Amino acid sequence: MLSMRSVIGVIGGAMLAMGAAQAEYDIPKVTDIDEVTRGEGKSIVDSACIRCHGAGVMGAQGKGAPGWQHLVDARGFETLTRNVIRGRGAMPARGGVSDASDAQIAAAVRYFLETSDVDLEAVEH
Ligand code: HEC
Repeated sequence: MLSMRSVIGVIGGAMLAMGAAQAEYDIPKVTDIDEVTRGEGKSIVDSACIRCHGAGVMGAQGKGAPGWQHLVDARGFETLTRNVIRGRGAMPARGGVSDASDAQIAAAVRYFLETSDVDLEAVEH
């Protein structure tokens, strides 16, 4: 039978593992997103992200707004993607698409930026 101490040890270990899993996302490089995932990203943008970012409601920048290039230059693709995964301000985690994978959200961010006239060629991070 497990002693109380080892039970606490197991629970503590699981909590540490969960903390680590939350901190680490599986975000691909912007150039490493395959065609299939890019298609899924487009669907996510068209069905979900556009609700706020289409016209630009609740403080969300609209698609094609000039501020996007600035954000990419300042924060980089990975940080922007992480902020979408975590949620930021009025934006819910994963833009509300809770079952989307990290790679699918990255693909959505990529598609969104590409169609907002952001130069992703220059983005290395
Ligand atoms: C409910 C409205 C809403 C939805 C849906 C939404 N967003 Fe946002 N988004 C926002 C708001 C508001 C901000 C500004 C957050 C802030 O900085 O306070 C934002 C910010 C962002 C940013 C900038 C993050 C940063 O680091 O400043 C990106 C990129 C983004 N959204 C992409 C997406 C993508 C991709 C989706 C779909 C998966 C999505 N958003 C869905 C409201 C939304």
